[in-house]
Amino acid sequence: MNLIFMGPPGAGKGTQARQIAEKYGIPQLSTGDMLRAAVKAGTEIGKKAKAAMESGGLVTDDIVVGIIADRIAEPDCKKGFILDGFPRTVAQAKALDSMLKERALKIDHVIDITCDTEALVSRITGRSTCAKCGEGYHKEHKKPAKEGVCDKCGGALTTRADDNEETVRNRLTVYDQQTAPVIGHYRHAGAFKTVDGMQEMNTVFKTLCSIIG
Ligand code: AP5
Ligand code: MG
Repeated sequence: MNLIFMGPPGAGKGTQARQIAEKYGIPQLSTGDMLRAAVKAGTEIGKKAKAAMESGGLVTDDIVVGIIADRIAEPDCKKGFILDGFPRTVAQAKALDSMLKERALKIDHVIDITCDTEALVSRITGRSTCAKCGEGYHKEHKKPAKEGVCDKCGGALTTRADDNEETVRNRLTVYDQQTAPVIGHYRHAGAFKTVDGMQEMNTVFKTLCSIIG
């Protein structure tokens, strides 16, 4: 089962991808998470990506395409994968098409999670993330049992460097200009679906499960 989760920043791609990954036993491939790990580790990719990420802009296509090409070749992707936050430009979508063709793979579902703009801003500015396992929390919608501590693994909750209001607004503009056109790339393929991300988290999850089967 190969899936693409699309949607603007804060729509719930990561929240849902983590749960779907657990239920279906396939990995969540978040280019955002991979790039943040590279920035933290100070790798060459991390050094190149840092400034774009902090301003809310996109990292270059060659970097993210390279990351995904390597990642989907790993053994844990044999049963399938969930692309979370990739492709984000039409050029990335075309590169993915060729990558899949070369490996005789196909995407089963492209799911666009939609959400109102003001809800996106409040979701992102209220978000915290576990530094250890990546679980996401929200100060109103998903509070941890103990403040600042992950319910799942006991790790410390942190705030992303790009989760302030100014950067969020820039990320939304970048999404409209560069990522929304990717929907056109997939819309006419039978595998494209839209899910209302304004619903409660569990309802979104159930809707996704009913699509995936
Ligand atoms: P990335 O990490 O992908 O960030 P993003 O797309 O901006 O999306 P988010 O992770 O912010 O949102 P999400 O949809 O995952 O929401 P979440 O589930 O956490 O990318 C970061 C940066 O990396 C980019 O800006 C770019 O620089 C670079 N990058 C990454 N991929 C790239 C690529 N392919 N090409 C180029 N550059 C790339 O939910 C948000 C909050 O809302 C949480 O607090 C959650 O608890 C809450 N929430 C979730 N669902 C609900 C709900 N239904 N109701 C109420 N609250 C909810
Ligand atoms: Mg995410």
